[in-house]
Amino acid sequence: MLKVLFAPLQGYTTGIYRRAHAEIFGGVDAYYAPFLRIENGLPREKDLRDLECAGVAERNRTDYKVIPQIIANCVQEFKTLAEAVLQKGFTEIDFNMGCPFPMQVNRHRGAGLLINVQAVQEIMDEIKRMSGSATNANGTAPVKFSVKMRLGQNSPDEAFALLPILNDTPLAHITIHPRLGKQQYKGAIDFNSFEKFYNECKHPLVYNGDITSVSQICEMERKYPKLAALMIGRGLLAHPNLAAEYKALGCKDFLGKILQMHQIIFEDACKKFQGDSQILSHIQSFWEYLEPNIPKKIFKKIKKAGKLSEYSEAVKELS
Ligand SMILES: Cc1cc2nc3c(=O)[nH]c(=O)nc-3n(C[C@H](O)[C@H](O)[C@H](O)COP(=O)(O)O)c2cc1C
Repeated sequence: MLKVLFAPLQGYTTGIYRRAHAEIFGGVDAYYAPFLRIENGLPREKDLRDLECAGVAERNRTDYKVIPQIIANCVQEFKTLAEAVLQKGFTEIDFNMGCPFPMQVNRHRGAGLLINVQAVQEIMDEIKRMSGSATNANGTAPVKFSVKMRLGQNSPDEAFALLPILNDTPLAHITIHPRLGKQQYKGAIDFNSFEKFYNECKHPLVYNGDITSVSQICEMERKYPKLAALMIGRGLLAHPNLAAEYKALGCKDFLGKILQMHQIIFEDACKKFQGDSQILSHIQSFWEYLEPNIPKKIFKKIKKAGKLSEYSEAVKELS
């Protein structure tokens, strides 16, 4: 059976979401947190705070596993961010070389880093150094790194130019989303290039992209027996029961469970944020990928609610 990893999605798979999903649906082997980035020369506080939920640092959770992710355009940024994450006690870090958002790509981060062979080499050298010597804040566990990447920003040649460097770096795994940065999240997945990468990559490989059903998971398992795991994002946001169903953990009363999960998110958001608009902006995103499961009229009311009272009335109509 393949491992299922929950992909990071900024604004969706927040700490609050991860905790609620693990409690109500589960079936996920690890949750990847959205990337931590540099803002005004320092690790962004808001991202660091998100690695704590309901006052509990996610590294200390025993009920589910969270792996933080960092995004950087040079080895200096990489070191600053990795150190901030290690300070929080984490022992595994994922490095983003796939984000296609112009804000990041134009700053040579995410998919924008893939053409910069020199910077990637320097970062991989740092990973080699840290994997051998760095430990987490408690000084106990050695640090593991993984990479999440695309085939390239403009051409799949970019990933294949980097592969010898990546193969020579001690990585726990590579996650590949077989699209180009310029495609963002649309357009065809390039399975030919994926298969070439699958054959040439020396690390455990994780596939990511457009998985939305148990039958697709089983098909990937059959077709690519060397895969270490699948990473699923939008498919899990739309079907939070997907991983549990694949693992035959079962899920009766889908809507009931959605409402239970929502209740946890709602209560945590009310504790963490202040004022209707801050709370609403956090919890309204919960419904976005669930739209096909919800009556249109109620979905509209939920999305349009400007006050917490209107929002709660709309959610009540679902039960
Ligand atoms: C709104 C949005 C935010 C995302 N944020 C991140 C992120 O912080 N880090 C990351 O590695 N990928 C991010 N992704 C990409 C997803 O992790 C995933 O690779 C992508 O959605 C494709 O997988 P899927 O088809 O299973 O959703 C984001 C995608 C979207 C649509």
